[in-house]
Amino acid sequence: MTSTTPAPAASTDPAASTAASAASMATAAVTTSRRTIEYRSIAAPVPAPGTAVIRMASVTLCGTDAHIWDDDYATELPIIQGHEAAGTIVALDPSDTDVHAGSGTGGWAVGDRVAISPMFYCGQCHACSIGRVNACRHMSVYGCYEDGSLVTEQAVPLEKLYRVPDGLELSLAPMSEPASIAMQAVNRGRAQAGEKVLVSGAGPIGLLATVYLKDLGCDVTVSDMNPARLALATALGADRTFTVTPGDFPTAAQRTELDQLTRGDGPSLVIDATGAPASVATGVELVATAGRVVCVGISDAELRLTLRTLPVKEIDLLGSRNSQNLIGQALELLDRHQDSIGALLTHRFVFEDLDAAFETLVDPTAGVGKIAIDFPAEDPTEGDTRP
Ligand SMILES: NC(=O)c1ccc[n+]([C@@H]2O[C@H](COP(=O)([O-])OP(=O)(O)OC[C@H]3O[C@@H](n4cnc5c(N)ncnc54)[C@H](O)[C@@H]3O)[C@@H](O)[C@H]2O)c1
Ligand SMILES: [Zn+2]
Ligand SMILES: [Zn+2]
Repeated sequence: MTSTTPAPAASTDPAASTAASAASMATAAVTTSRRTIEYRSIAAPVPAPGTAVIRMASVTLCGTDAHIWDDDYATELPIIQGHEAAGTIVALDPSDTDVHAGSGTGGWAVGDRVAISPMFYCGQCHACSIGRVNACRHMSVYGCYEDGSLVTEQAVPLEKLYRVPDGLELSLAPMSEPASIAMQAVNRGRAQAGEKVLVSGAGPIGLLATVYLKDLGCDVTVSDMNPARLALATALGADRTFTVTPGDFPTAAQRTELDQLTRGDGPSLVIDATGAPASVATGVELVATAGRVVCVGISDAELRLTLRTLPVKEIDLLGSRNSQNLIGQALELLDRHQDSIGALLTHRFVFEDLDAAFETLVDPTAGVGKIAIDFPAEDPTEGDTRP
């Protein structure tokens, strides 16, 4: 197992940047205080042995970004946000051109298109020692606990890079990060082909879990109260969707449908991608005896369960965090399904327009699936030119 430490970030101290020449500058978007982003010119990173400099092409935003921007997260501001990112290698240390990639496909070269794994683990703690590095007690994540990828150029350890399949647009590649989280939840649930699965919550995590479950050959029911999101679930391959009426879920008709589908057993796997206690409690009630309920949704809300259902039904109630280095597999999943996954990308903003991007992210009326931030290509002849 590899113990990893982040590459040293370029300084965000404006004074430090004045020493650098104009030719080697990068622009960082620094969240300095609640709902305030400042663009700062910083010294462009140079590649040290074991790191590559990535010119950012695309960063996607998620709910965690909204919390950090709102200064409602366990991290100190200022910080450069961005933990779902893809770009192009623009500089490598000469000694590193034959280093094997995180995706295991060979040496790196300038011009390679990569997605960045933002997760850093200690390699020493109990979780790491048994290979569950995704639950490291000393976890750090780019853009959440240390400076991330809302910057035009970033130095990244080579082992955190995953090659983007040739046919996959760079604007979709950052979604490999949330897709890896969704895949981890499905893997924790040990989903098997042919199983009847209920996914609660049709946000990006629930939707990407749906794509993976369909890829594995499962029958997938998706529930949410938001009709636009349920329409996305259908577009992404859900077999059926259930509209949730809070306090009345499942309705008698929905329960009958589930019973008919499962010969009265209930789904053998439930994935909660909401973080809502009611959703998990309903999942525990609906799941088949000897079934699995995976909690990938996170919140501070308390869950109340009697101590009858879990033992009597012998349910596996499982937490799921980050992913066990699944970004490479997530890129392949996105590549296989990019025609449908494009529907998840509902909004795009240029890097210079982050205020509007974050305002949209937190606007409940905006109908956001995923928001992508497009970076300027320094050289217009380079970068991703596909439509
Ligand atoms: N475990 C991890 O490592 C990890 C990583 C990223 C995100 N998350 C968490 O995963 C969850 C999903 O993330 P997301 O980006 O898709 O969030 P999101 O907020 O975009 O989506 C959640 C969806 O759940 C729906 N919902 C809420 N209550 C519901 C209920 N009772 N029944 C059915 N649907 C309900 C909402 O309408 C919404 O569409 C969040 O809690 C997030 O914090 C966990
Ligand atoms: Zn995220
Ligand atoms: Zn650890």
